[in-house]
Amino acid sequence: MLPLANTLARRSFSTSLASSAVIKNVTVIGGGLMGSGIAQVAAQTGHKVILVDLDETVLSKAKNSITANLGRVAKKKFKDAPAEGEKFVAGALANLSTNTDACEAAKSADLVLEAIVEDLKVKHKLFSSLDPVAPAHTIFASNTSSLSVEDISQAAPSRKEKFGGLHFFNPVPVMKLLEVIRTPYTSDETYQAMMEWGKALGKVAITCRDTPGFVVNRLLVPYLAEAARLVERGDATTRDVDIAMKLGAGYPMGPFELLDYVGLDTNKFVLDGWAKKFPDEPLFKPVPLVNEKVAQGKLGIKSGEGFYNYKKQ
Ligand code: NAI
Repeated sequence: MLPLANTLARRSFSTSLASSAVIKNVTVIGGGLMGSGIAQVAAQTGHKVILVDLDETVLSKAKNSITANLGRVAKKKFKDAPAEGEKFVAGALANLSTNTDACEAAKSADLVLEAIVEDLKVKHKLFSSLDPVAPAHTIFASNTSSLSVEDISQAAPSRKEKFGGLHFFNPVPVMKLLEVIRTPYTSDETYQAMMEWGKALGKVAITCRDTPGFVVNRLLVPYLAEAARLVERGDATTRDVDIAMKLGAGYPMGPFELLDYVGLDTNKFVLDGWAKKFPDEPLFKPVPLVNEKVAQGKLGIKSGEGFYNYKKQ
């Protein structure tokens, strides 16, 4: 009887807390690939968004690309009602502003979501400057794809319970998944607020503990490395491995097509970071074949060549 009563009490407690922690004002820090996508989706779902970057030209580029993307969304969503489409774009853009001062932008935020460079020291510097100036209720979150959220949260000691991970996927407006990450200190209230915000953005939110790579990258990064090791040993060709995984496992892309899409340097960066932190984990061991290609500047689609050649012949 007692455990059930406890469970019910906890449930009603977390429901009432969740309803008091609705996220409406969002400050997204980092106006690059991920930050601009997150800002777009938040603005088009009715949130007030401030997009922050150090660089004014990055912000104006982000605004242009968000405007173009919104136009495309409107064209598809309001095929037979162009006036509605225009209203949708204008409404989303009215929700969006930009700033180069993160501390200023954090002052009105219910949520500060960081999507800056994947570097613990830089993220620490940012959060330690924000922690003293953001309102007490403000939730801090990181979009990190490979660092520990708890490690990042150490720079915001006054809000360890209000700190979590919100891991989006590229391209943000298209990819449905959101990984919501709880550190051992993330409170139920913060967790519920992040889950509900994910839903409000139209994403499907799943939960993961604060482990390297969370769910998707923890499976994907070692899988891509293992595919490269297979080719390195001479067991099969790149093309045959890609064909095998598409036709035999039903994957939409082969591992080498995916490596080229993600960037070999990005994959190497993640693997190197994990290998350093977890030297006994064989799945995280560096792959010489990938390292060689990165050293030769063969990074994938973005450099014109990776495992495949994308240069016009
Ligand atoms: P990006 O390089 O496209 O953008 C980062 C932006 O942050 C740059 O515009 C830079 O000027 C800005 N910036 C750097 N330091 C700043 C500071 N202190 N204050 C304000 N702005 C600052 O990077 P991207 O790809 O958008 O990645 C951002 C984060 O998202 C990283 O943590 C990355 O691991 C994570 N992520 C990336 C994914 C991807 O596919 N690229 C997928 C999921 C997560």
